[in-house]
Amino acid sequence: MTQDSSPTIESVLQEQRQFDPPPELAAAARIGSMAAYDALMAQAQADPDGFWGEAARRELDWFEPFDTVLDWSNPPFARWFEGGTTNLSYNCLDRHLEGPRADKTALIWEGEPGDVRRFTYRELHAEVCRAANALKALGVGKGDLVALYMPMVPEAAIAMLACARIGAPHSVVFGGFSAEALRDRLNDGQVKLVITADGGFRKDKAVSLKPAVDQALSEGCPSVEHVLVVRRTGEATGFEAGRDLWWHELVDGQSADCPAVPMASEDRLFVLYTSGSTGKPKGVVHTTAGYNLWAHLTFQWIFDIREDDIHWCTADVGWITGHSYIVYGPLSNGATTLMYEGAPRPAKPGAFWEVIEKHRVTIFYTAPTAIRAFMKSGREVPDRYDMSSLRILGTVGEPINPEAWMWYRDVIGGDRCPVVDTWWQTETGGVMISPLPGATPTKPGSATLPLPGIVADVVDLEGNSVPTGQGGYLAVRRPWPGMMRTVHGDPDRFRRSYWEHIRPADGSYLYFAGDGARRDADGYFWVMGRVDDVINVSGHRLGTMEIESALVSHPSVAEAAVVGRPDDLKGEGIVAFVTLDVGVDGDAALEAELRRHVGLEIGPIARPDIIRFTDSLPKTRSGKIMRRILRSLAAGQEVSGDTSTLEDRSVLDQLRV
Ligand code: WTA
Repeated sequence: MTQDSSPTIESVLQEQRQFDPPPELAAAARIGSMAAYDALMAQAQADPDGFWGEAARRELDWFEPFDTVLDWSNPPFARWFEGGTTNLSYNCLDRHLEGPRADKTALIWEGEPGDVRRFTYRELHAEVCRAANALKALGVGKGDLVALYMPMVPEAAIAMLACARIGAPHSVVFGGFSAEALRDRLNDGQVKLVITADGGFRKDKAVSLKPAVDQALSEGCPSVEHVLVVRRTGEATGFEAGRDLWWHELVDGQSADCPAVPMASEDRLFVLYTSGSTGKPKGVVHTTAGYNLWAHLTFQWIFDIREDDIHWCTADVGWITGHSYIVYGPLSNGATTLMYEGAPRPAKPGAFWEVIEKHRVTIFYTAPTAIRAFMKSGREVPDRYDMSSLRILGTVGEPINPEAWMWYRDVIGGDRCPVVDTWWQTETGGVMISPLPGATPTKPGSATLPLPGIVADVVDLEGNSVPTGQGGYLAVRRPWPGMMRTVHGDPDRFRRSYWEHIRPADGSYLYFAGDGARRDADGYFWVMGRVDDVINVSGHRLGTMEIESALVSHPSVAEAAVVGRPDDLKGEGIVAFVTLDVGVDGDAALEAELRRHVGLEIGPIARPDIIRFTDSLPKTRSGKIMRRILRSLAAGQEVSGDTSTLEDRSVLDQLRV
């Protein structure tokens, strides 16, 4: 956490509007009233082990039952459902094959050019078994890490489920990351196999992926033995004999029978890298049973899932939202999940609404940044489509401003559909704070209340709840099944990053989320954004230190400091303050060059919006960069607060953006 940022988080929100759940929805809902919600909360409070144990027995299939619910004897390292064995792929597929769900559509996939593929549960099961047998044929077994660097094609979900089936943890790397970023993740995880595609379609163009894998491997990833390549775009692709294999050549001929391997509850399920407040992304580790239960339960609760729902989450499988709410949560519940390869684009601004109309989508889950972009182009576009099938709308990834929330509810939801604003993180595995659509009255801009069993709070650094209306740190007081278990290869970092910022006098452990929040008089949570050196660009988490390291790796750059600033569309934009080596001139050409360089080091999403060259950066006398000052300057505000520790006040004038 930034030392020089004060923990005061002023809320500017004075939101009074409130919307009750539609009565018909509430009448049929799984949790259909606040009384029902309160009863679940009370039950979880009185007997947490009973609450979670019963849920795990009821909602998941087990090969061997578990003996203990939670072992918290070595905090912050939690162990859930020990003694039990289960398999996520089994819970997502096999258990639905007994009854009528076998022939229900599990996955609808819409490609950007308009090609559609559908898989029933039976068909998806067969595909996953073939892929799992192919992995085995390549020598991949229990415990071997497999990386996926994929476009949004069905094979991405199939590969994830195939890994889970044989107990090989996956590490999905977002397809928008660069070869450099991919290489770091392959090496950190000691990955054995990479699954990728020749490319994918994005905004009416074929975007290649395989060359980035080739580049990453050519720079040294000694652990990688094979690359399995899905043919999607059909473009010419370099192939290294012996190392590279086509998916269709290897997978299609395999047997469609591959029993799911019984996995111990705490066996590693996947690693997913996310940005923190240091230069190196953290490999967030999730394990088998707890993650499965949490993705399953939260999906059921927040979307009040019904047998005939068509659920569409617009995230990419490269992020946790795609893991939990495109693949695992929906399939574990036997729901129909839709996966879309494309994005709205100039030639097709109504792309999303067309998908909703065409597939009669009932639940739509997207990000505030997308909603703000739609707002900008006006309601004429969505008004052209029939979206009467929709019944629940969700948002995730960043705080949603009340205007965007209202627009979403009115224009997309026809003033009928509850909006569930879901707060959570890669680390939490699934949603933590969210309305229940049949129970919780919603307020535009608030994620409302914690889900049953979640003991969330807004606290000071000693762990005391702050008074109503006051800003503080968002924290969780009790372990929950979907919590991350550790940072891959660095348990100490896990402890430091999440469990040591808040230090209650009684020595108890609180999970520190890195977000600032306040609660209103109804106990509703209003999440204000990050309080650490992480910025949120269009719902993508980026570490400022990572971007700084990328800048400094350029030969002309001496020093760099990166901060976020408010951006109407993206939530936050990236501003970089850069000092150059002696004799180098900061001109427009160098600025363009540095932006390109960051794109190559991390990925296009990390490119700074503004680069400001300066002779020096504002520092304390002890040499620490004063980011608080840079944040004010980047936002175009006057520098307020204490600047007495600033070593050289004259730098401020140079830095104004
Ligand atoms: C932010 C994405 C406000 C928050 C699931 C969090 C939100 C970070 C919300 C996690 C929300 C996510 N309201 N802020 N509804 N949802 N965030 O790991 O800052 O990519 O810490 O997980 O996104 O981002 P991550």
